[in-house]
Amino acid sequence: MWRARRASNAPLDQSGVWRYREAIAFLDDYAGVVTLREGNTPLLPAPGAAAYGGLDALAFKHQGFNPTGSFKDNGMTCGVAQAKRLGVKRVACVSTGNTSASMAAYASAAGLQPIIFIPHGNISFGKLAQALEYGARTLQVEANFDQILALVRQLAEKLGIYLLNSINPFRIEGQKTIMVELMDQRDWRVPDWIVLPGGNLGNVSAFGKGLREMRELGLIDRLPRLAVIQAAGAAPFYNLYRAASRDRLNAVVHPETLATAIKIGDPVSWPKALYEITTSGGTVEKVTEQEIADAKAIIGRCGIGCEPASAATLAGIRKLTAAGVIAAEADVVAVLTGNLLKDPDYIHRYHTGTLEALDGSKIASNFGNPPEVVPAEADRIAAVLER
Ligand code: F0G
Repeated sequence: MWRARRASNAPLDQSGVWRYREAIAFLDDYAGVVTLREGNTPLLPAPGAAAYGGLDALAFKHQGFNPTGSFKDNGMTCGVAQAKRLGVKRVACVSTGNTSASMAAYASAAGLQPIIFIPHGNISFGKLAQALEYGARTLQVEANFDQILALVRQLAEKLGIYLLNSINPFRIEGQKTIMVELMDQRDWRVPDWIVLPGGNLGNVSAFGKGLREMRELGLIDRLPRLAVIQAAGAAPFYNLYRAASRDRLNAVVHPETLATAIKIGDPVSWPKALYEITTSGGTVEKVTEQEIADAKAIIGRCGIGCEPASAATLAGIRKLTAAGVIAAEADVVAVLTGNLLKDPDYIHRYHTGTLEALDGSKIASNFGNPPEVVPAEADRIAAVLER
């Protein structure tokens, strides 16, 4: 990280406006841009999800439309461009799956060697498949995300590998553009709330920074409130936010959730995230495995779909409206962070009533839509469809 900062020309001690201009202009030459055409993701109104969430209206900013299917691409274009600018040959990340998929694609596209570290057996197959296909050297470590990150932070320095986790400031700069796009799509009308899932908390840090800078630039006149939703089994930031003192985050040593993307117990960006939540007058909520699974099926029925972590947003909105924190008539945008096809195994299990939480408890298939097996006979198929 420090290497990146020194190598960039971005002055760290001047006004936010200046910093913003510097941040987007960090490349000396636009030939250095590394892009797979990320961004410009749609803002999709979802009346069915709004009703489920206790709102009059709700729109999803769907990051699953990005080239590798998650919001990570918005940051990776910047992070990998900076890696190339520094002249490094190898880049690495620790990931719950999406960062590694994105980094593998962007690094390979830029001619760099991607090395990824993932928790063995704990990322969805869709994401692992992407990393393999995009040519990443893939190391499955027998530890959880937090333990591997601590390990790799030491290793990267020793081996001279450029680290592309969300502690990398260039990735955060790139992820800010999700908010710029959103405001542009809304004609610079600020929503009351922006709701997003929280894992390592890089994204909420990026959103908060981007929003504050847009306000400083006069592009928007106020800040929306940011609501971060965590999975109940991996909710250290929720615990911190609700604690009497917010000085120190107590890590969750064994984070547990089927939403593997946010299965993180010791989020590195918590101080920045806490600053953005408090500055925006936002909040933090947590949701159960059942709530995530049901909300996900509802988003699916809107014809939109997403991966489990993303669905925490709608589950959180439902809780926050029920508690009176978000008003029914509030103008709310939820960010769907990843594509439905990232984790098809979870979906199949939910709809066939075989999804189980990590403690072995069964998740009810409340909005299940199981496939039906039919014989290859026209009459019998017709009879099934007329039932
Ligand atoms: N949603 C999805 C789909 C994610 O992949 C992640 C993070 C998050 C939400 C949480 O974002 O960490 O910025 O708070 N995935 C990381 C990864 C950790 O390695 O792919 P965050």
